[in-house]
Amino acid sequence: MKLFKISNGKLQATTTEIPEIKPNEVLVKIKAISLNYRDILVTEGSGKWKPTENRIPGSDAAGKVIKIGNKVTNFKEGDNVTSLILPNWETGKLNTDKLKDSLGGSDRDGIMAEYVVFPENALHKFPNYLSFEEAATLPVAALTAWNAVVEQSNLKLGDTILLIGTGGVSLFALQFAKLAGYRVIITSSSDEKLQKATALGAHHTINYKTTENWIKEVLKLTNNKGVDQVIDVVGGSHISQSLQCVKSEGTVSMVGVIDGTSGVIDTGTIMMKAARIQGIETGSTEMYNNMLRAFQLHEIHPVIDKTFAFDDTLDAFAYLKKAQHMGKISIVL
Ligand SMILES: NC(=O)c1ccc[n+]([C@@H]2O[C@H](COP(=O)([O-])OP(=O)(O)OC[C@H]3O[C@@H](n4cnc5c(N)ncnc54)[C@H](OP(=O)(O)O)[C@@H]3O)[C@@H](O)[C@H]2O)c1
Repeated sequence: MKLFKISNGKLQATTTEIPEIKPNEVLVKIKAISLNYRDILVTEGSGKWKPTENRIPGSDAAGKVIKIGNKVTNFKEGDNVTSLILPNWETGKLNTDKLKDSLGGSDRDGIMAEYVVFPENALHKFPNYLSFEEAATLPVAALTAWNAVVEQSNLKLGDTILLIGTGGVSLFALQFAKLAGYRVIITSSSDEKLQKATALGAHHTINYKTTENWIKEVLKLTNNKGVDQVIDVVGGSHISQSLQCVKSEGTVSMVGVIDGTSGVIDTGTIMMKAARIQGIETGSTEMYNNMLRAFQLHEIHPVIDKTFAFDDTLDAFAYLKKAQHMGKISIVL
């Protein structure tokens, strides 16, 4: 079978035998993969994401079960499944043990292969109205947005949420915020992407590159009070900008690390606004299940920007790095 491994900080195509399964494992023929910003961090070996040599990257896949071990109880041959990035976070609150063994990270191999063996708890069935390509976008970006916008949010119908950029997490956040009845302000570096965001239901759009003071625009839209919640996918010093946008006692959901894992944060504003900074880690299997119920009920379709063939995975990574996409980037097998 074909697969991709990380060698010397670079992704390399290679081949190997189809792996054998143990009694509690499931063999899946991968049909679609979706890329995340994290895949760049892992492949390039940034900070805590640095993998061991020959790591198979990738966390998000959808495929068909083709063989089950004799102790597997939740799946049968022929089931359509997605991966789960954090198999050990099944329910309840997060702790450090639940973060162990994340797929395609520093701890264990991921999904960038034609066939992948999963422990039973790293898989989940998905609603059958979704294609494999659509389902593959759910394990990280959708679940993270769901966690931030639904599970950890205290917003009510009509409250205002600010979404930063039009990447994978932000567009799922837009779809969930619309379902929840929030007023949505979204920013982007591209007017074309903002037009598409309006078509998806955003109430207000701001180009953060061409607007002289985009924060002032956010405040204008809220009678200078600020928004109820910001989903900040940039992180680093950008958190200070989100703090300027949030109202007193509002929440900044700290999701991303595009601007790195540290920065200069205006702690005075946190205090004066009594603001809440809420770190968001992807989510649990229980949350994934809650999210899939909403997908099934509302037949939500993920926004997929571009699809690549498995042999063109390096091009897909290069496209992700260019950051010109809107929503998700897919690979089909
Ligand atoms: N905490 C978690 O569990 C978790 C889960 C998923 C992702 N993440 C993190 O969240 C971040 C976003 O992930 P993603 O998959 O949505 O990424 P993505 O699809 O690559 O989207 C990133 C988007 O952010 C916007 N952006 C980039 N730099 C910006 C800046 N300086 N100011 C404002 N907007 C900016 C851009 O939108 P425009 O092109 O519209 O300008 C860009 O397309 C990444 O750091 C990722 O690692 C964390």
